[in-house]
Amino acid sequence: MKLFDVYPLLDITPEKALGCQVWDTQGNSYLDLYGGHAVISIGHCHPHYVEKVAGQLQKIGFYSNSVQNPLQHELAEKLGRQSGYDSYQLFLCNSGAEANENAIKLASFVTGRKKFIAFRKGFHGRTSAAVALTDNPKIVAPVNQTSNALILPFNDLAASEKAFETEEIAAVLVEGIQGIGGIILPDPEFFKGLQALAHRHGALFILDEIQSGYGRSGKFFAHQYDGVTPDIITTAKGMGNGFPVGGVLIHPDIHPWHGMLGTTFGGNHLACAAAIAVLEVMEKENLVENAARIGSWLIRQLNALNGDFQVRGRGLMIGLEFPFPIKNLREKLLRDFHIFTGFSGQNTVRLLPPLSLSENDAARFVSALASVLENPEFSR
Ligand SMILES: Cc1ncc(COP(=O)(O)O)c(C=O)c1O
Repeated sequence: MKLFDVYPLLDITPEKALGCQVWDTQGNSYLDLYGGHAVISIGHCHPHYVEKVAGQLQKIGFYSNSVQNPLQHELAEKLGRQSGYDSYQLFLCNSGAEANENAIKLASFVTGRKKFIAFRKGFHGRTSAAVALTDNPKIVAPVNQTSNALILPFNDLAASEKAFETEEIAAVLVEGIQGIGGIILPDPEFFKGLQALAHRHGALFILDEIQSGYGRSGKFFAHQYDGVTPDIITTAKGMGNGFPVGGVLIHPDIHPWHGMLGTTFGGNHLACAAAIAVLEVMEKENLVENAARIGSWLIRQLNALNGDFQVRGRGLMIGLEFPFPIKNLREKLLRDFHIFTGFSGQNTVRLLPPLSLSENDAARFVSALASVLENPEFSR
């Protein structure tokens, strides 16, 4: 059988990894500033993580959500404390899309309404309700198209205000920082305005922190820069450091009933062990603070290059937008300097490294980029 060929692949085969380094099958080492798409939070193969996951596998790897599982309570307690949301409730699932799908369903159950506001260039995953709130026609199949989705301009509060006045809205769904859209930050008062509008109109305010959460922005959740307290927060990527885990953090006023949400695999023993190990390492090694410190340093250094690009971001979620397609530039960073980077669209390099990135490794990127930019191909 052949694989269903939906991914454009780099010609590289990673074989092992440690911290921020990845080695390919030829023994070449690479600096990973992409983190497998913001997934590697505590660093590859962190010894505490490996020990905890392997140890759990030898005890019990899986049982369904029909029995007591104390690991789920331990994870919820740690996540609540570290994120500042200890009064919230946690629903565990397996991916980002699934977290958003459940958040959307929950908001619809709670309000009895169907319409949702989301934003242009946003991304919330590929399951039916989540993808319907995405304005990328390439990923929205006819079956996903619905008049229940209102996709509005980001950072335009007046547009949201108008939508709230003319439609009955169940919830607003917004990313803490738009990731795939190109590392676009909310304007200072945008989230506060959205939250106020939602609550004035009996709707919920949902933050998608799947990419921007779990310390990536230099705070546990990116919206914690914006002075808001969402009704529902979704998380995934960094939560399991590569093990598929997603979560929905739910305000204490939202009440569950048996059967309201569910999943076979979500919250299994192995997933919980991985997610607990991640939180333990994040706390012990002060990784949220490290992301804030190294991220600010890196953003300052990148701005100081005075190159032909714009730097945007917070913590270790950084975008560099160039006035030309960046395909060749990324290829040069990879081939000549052995540095993995991500991208958003044609023109933006996206950096999503492990939160444990050192200043030395950040400096290695700055000097590699400075060298690449000396090439006339990459300057106007
Ligand atoms: C902001 C955001 N939401 C949701 C998702 C979907 O997550 P998953 O691919 O785990 O379904 C992503 C994935 O890139 C994302 O960046």
